[in-house]
Amino acid sequence: MKKGKKLIVGNWKMNPARWDEGKGLLLGIRKGVMRLKGGKAPEFVICPPNLYLRDAVKAAGKTKLSFGVQDVSPFDGTGSKTGSISALMHRNSGAKSAIIGHSERRQAGESDDEVNRKIHLALGAGLRAIVCIGEKERHANGDYLEFIRTQLRLALEKVERKDLANIAIAYEPVWAIGAKEAMTPHDLHQMSLYIRKILIELYSAEATGIIPVLYGGAVSPENALGIVRDGAVDGLLVGRDSLNAANFVEIGRLAAMA
Ligand code: PGA
Repeated sequence: MKKGKKLIVGNWKMNPARWDEGKGLLLGIRKGVMRLKGGKAPEFVICPPNLYLRDAVKAAGKTKLSFGVQDVSPFDGTGSKTGSISALMHRNSGAKSAIIGHSERRQAGESDDEVNRKIHLALGAGLRAIVCIGEKERHANGDYLEFIRTQLRLALEKVERKDLANIAIAYEPVWAIGAKEAMTPHDLHQMSLYIRKILIELYSAEATGIIPVLYGGAVSPENALGIVRDGAVDGLLVGRDSLNAANFVEIGRLAAMA
């Protein structure tokens, strides 16, 4: 498992409806993060809607928070691509990371090929790619294991060793996203080991020390410590509770204790 700071990513998804509200949330998080003592602080990344990114970067000022986006365009460069925002534009607007392959994007039709393409574009633009993988459902025959292996292999196709420092894997079982209960730490432990084993096969033993493995799906202050400690993950991808400043900071504090 990667030594060092835990990585806590907040995915605001399509929230809130107005930047004023987003600003209030961000300043609440900023205040809470500033109160955390050095050693107890994880690395926090906030992924607001694109429209708020520049204002968010400005409002956060000089803090330990950094920002990411929730997706990047599958197109490179500039040009006639109505509605698209390239990875480089995000980078130039202050993003340092990009969530890629979130199940809500995959559900909207994003293919493994597109996920791979977006990862390359994000890396090329100097963004850290937070790559989401996760099975839709689990059958007793264990076929989800093969599903995860394939998803991970296709996502990382042609990603070179030198770029691994800019990759994080977020394991998010689709059935736990937006659900009442998170995956149990015991089941997660099996998956985090399994994912690291695949990374070793794809690269080398070293890869597991470089690539953080995160968990996402119904993370809350109640389960964060157990998930990180007993699930043996390097951080968390938080949806709903990233919209509550106190809960989000508390999740980070607990994760850093694990
Ligand atoms: P949730 O979402 O924390 O609201 O379950 C997680 C995610 O979609 O990343």
